[in-house]
Amino acid sequence: MAKITFISRDGSEKTVEALDGLSVMQVAVDNDVDIEAACEGSMACATCHMVVDADWYGKLTPPTEEEEDMLDLAFGLTETSRLTCQIRVSDALDGARFSVPEE
Ligand code: FES
Repeated sequence: MAKITFISRDGSEKTVEALDGLSVMQVAVDNDVDIEAACEGSMACATCHMVVDADWYGKLTPPTEEEEDMLDLAFGLTETSRLTCQIRVSDALDGARFSVPEE
């Protein structure tokens, strides 16, 4: 179990408890965070893109080449962007912060 904070485009924050093993995308969708996640985690859409807080980016398992290729198609790409369907929740994620990207 980890507490994860999602930050909306308007700056509002939502901190939720996330079960180990779920993807961060699933946790976001379950908590009405405004991302689309159109392909439901099969890494075919890039609409689960979120921006990871700089402090946290380096602590995550690095993205695969496939994720990086798909990220190139994402809107509002930043240096710390990730596809949240590719990040698994674990205790190590406790306190992590993810922002909805600019459109
Ligand atoms: S949900 Fe489509 S790439 Fe993550």
